Amino acid sequence: MTRVNFAGNDYLGLARDPRLADALCRAVREYGISSTSSRWALGWTDLHQKLEDALAAFTGAEAACITGAAYFGGPVYYSVFAGSGRVVYCDETVHSNQFLGMRAAGLEIRKFKHLDAGDLKRQLKGHKGPAPIVAADGVYGISGEVAPLAEMAEAARAVGAEIFVDDAHGFGALGASGRGSTELCGLAPAPDLTVLCSMSKAMGCNGGFLTGRKELVEKFRRSAAASGSAIPPPPIAAACLESLRIIREEPELRDKMESHARRLRAALAARGVSVVSDRTPILGMVFKDEFEAAAADKHFLKHGLVIPYFKYASEPRENLLRGAARACYTEEHLARFEKAVATLKR
Ligand SMILES: Cc1ncc(COP(=O)(O)O)c(C=O)c1O
Repeated sequence: MTRVNFAGNDYLGLARDPRLADALCRAVREYGISSTSSRWALGWTDLHQKLEDALAAFTGAEAACITGAAYFGGPVYYSVFAGSGRVVYCDETVHSNQFLGMRAAGLEIRKFKHLDAGDLKRQLKGHKGPAPIVAADGVYGISGEVAPLAEMAEAARAVGAEIFVDDAHGFGALGASGRGSTELCGLAPAPDLTVLCSMSKAMGCNGGFLTGRKELVEKFRRSAAASGSAIPPPPIAAACLESLRIIREEPELRDKMESHARRLRAALAARGVSVVSDRTPILGMVFKDEFEAAAADKHFLKHGLVIPYFKYASEPRENLLRGAARACYTEEHLARFEKAVATLKR
């Protein structure tokens, strides 16, 4: 029995799409396999320029900045505010790339309760000093929870704050046109909004990018965190361009992913397993404790379904098992999941 990935982040099934492989192979012949350096040290090619322009155009932001990984996003973003005296108000469970960036930039951090825009608002009322930064993950990568971005932005804008959203898991997968959690929450591109996206999740490729206002993005490009490491290899940039085209032109992939997610959730609900959020392809399955979650991992594996349980770095709850729906499942895969869930020990 072949094992099937029922976790991971390949929500649209693009990582193994032959059209991306073709684009990549064509570019390998012309450009070689590595960028070998940063954007300023001859790593940059016409493919990278096309990709950056296409990402800005697709998201509707003024500009975009490609990075070697989305993980560099926090360090790049916060580094441009080092020494500014700005305070960062962030959701208490943002991804580690944000904490890494805030700490490296020496910024004061004040955490608000997870997903609690009311707590953010209360804390901002007492704010003194330069305009702060308000930060969250658009989608929490283990639970699949979506941040209340519209309410957060309203509170942030009342005090003239910068807004930073890490949408690594939302871009490509969420929103009517795949623009991510900001689109899902009705948050339009704006000069005060910077969004971090990953190209290694729904896009099925590798690397990351930040979008925002021109003046800030130009600083990102010049920052040590962005310019001190290699950019994604040119063949990956070619695959990203193809992936972006598919995301733009084939909304049916998102429809499939959503319908598969609904079917998996229904099977879990019928067995009495609740899922933290129903707004994303991420299945944050809730078990009694970590032992039951780990046992479920083993049970799924017996059925050839790979849903690994481990200590998730950014998720404090230990009783969650993180699965994910993908657009590329076949009827056999879905039926196999349903069969496995039906005999899950409760
Ligand atoms: C919320 C969040 N942000 C950023 C990243 C980093 O993304 P990448 O793997 O593209 O560097 C991850 C990775 O899982 C993530 O979950």
